[in-house]
Parts: sequence; structure tokens; C-alpha cells
Amino acid sequence: MAKKIITNLKHFQYFYPYTVALVGAKSGHKINFMSCAWHSALSFNPPLFGVLLSKKRLTHSIISEAREFSVNFLSYDQAKISAIMGRKSGREVDKIKLSGLHLLEPKNIQSPLIAEAYVAFECRLEEIHPFGDHDLFVGQILAVHVDSEGFNQEGVLEVQRIRPLCYLGSDCYVTIDPESFKRVLPD
Ligand SMILES: Cc1cc2nc3c(=O)[nH]c(=O)nc-3n(C[C@H](O)[C@H](O)[C@H](O)COP(=O)(O)O)c2cc1C
Repeated sequence: MAKKIITNLKHFQYFYPYTVALVGAKSGHKINFMSCAWHSALSFNPPLFGVLLSKKRLTHSIISEAREFSVNFLSYDQAKISAIMGRKSGREVDKIKLSGLHLLEPKNIQSPLIAEAYVAFECRLEEIHPFGDHDLFVGQILAVHVDSEGFNQEGVLEVQRIRPLCYLGSDCYVTIDPESFKRVLPD
């Protein structure tokens, strides 16, 4: 395999694909969400989930004020919603109205979830850690809302039913091929 070595990094998207989630919160009367591909589980016990937000995002200040957030995963047919939520700012437009999404009542926080997400987390903000031009928002997951037909008994995604939205960077999206599913154990 011929390798190209890049040392002068203009962008940093060689690790994609990553799934896309809408991350948002409510502060005062303002509800706002943004697309987020930089996210990760951080701990099983306690259940911690992290999202990396640039300081420039309106969502950054809303979550900082609300001290809570929701994480709402999108499916492949919702790529347009990701583009709206990820290329427009809530400073200029009401992205919920523009995208036609519906809000879902939370159980343990004050901030709403996205009704159309196949899985959504309610998170209480625990800590914010700065890393260069992004901040890591660490949330403790207080409740998970799952499409009951979207996951099997063990919580494994039913890839025949749900096609997760994955981001490749530069406004490019892809999903997984359900035919590629396999369960693999060591010998
Ligand atoms: C698919 C996709 C994923 C994105 N992931 C992130 C991310 O992980 N962190 C981030 O700070 N911005 C990310 N962005 C950019 C924000 O979503 C974008 O700047 C958005 O307009 C911010 O909205 P706001 O100002 O209403 O908060 C992403 C954009 C797209 C299209």
C-alpha cells in the first residue's frame, strides 16, 4: 500500500466515518441543537458521554448555561437535517422550525430531546475540559430513549431496520451495509 505522509494538517478528518448526533439544550426560552460528529462514550460506570464543541458554537454557550444537554442520533434519511443543523447557526435561524423536527419531553432534565432520533440520551453536565479550539463537555447519562424496534435484547442496533447516519467530513455522508453484519468471537 503506497502511503502519503501529511505533516501540514489543514483539516483533520482521516478518522471518519463517525455517526452524527444532534446535541442541544434549553437555556431560558432558547432551545438550540447542532450536528455533532466528535462524540464518545467515556465511562460505563458512571455512564459518561462526551461531546466536543467549538467555542464558536451557540450550542456551546447554551449547554454551558443549561448545565445539561441531549444527544440525539440521526439515521441516513435525515442527512438534510444534519446539514441544516450543522451548517446554520441558531444565532440566525430557528433550526427546529426550519428542519421540521419535533421535540420530545425529557424525563430527568429540563432540555428537550428530538422525537425523530432513533436513540437519544439525557445528560447532566458534569465537567467542561478545554482542548485546543474545542471543549469536551462531559455528561452523565440519566436516561436513554430508544426506538424499541431499533435494537435487539442486548442493545445491538438492528441494522436491517435502522441505517445510522455516518459523516465523512466535507459535507459527505454514508451509511452501513446491513449485509456486512457479522458476530465474531476469538477461537
Ligand atoms: C455532520 C457535522 C458534524 C459536526 N460536528 C461538529 C462537532 O463535533 N463539534 C463542533 O463543534 N462542530 C461540529 N459541526 C459544526 C456545527 O454543527 C456547526 O458549526 C453549527 O452550525 C453550530 O450551530 P450553532 O451555532 O447553532 O450551535 C459539525 C457539522 C456537521 C455538518
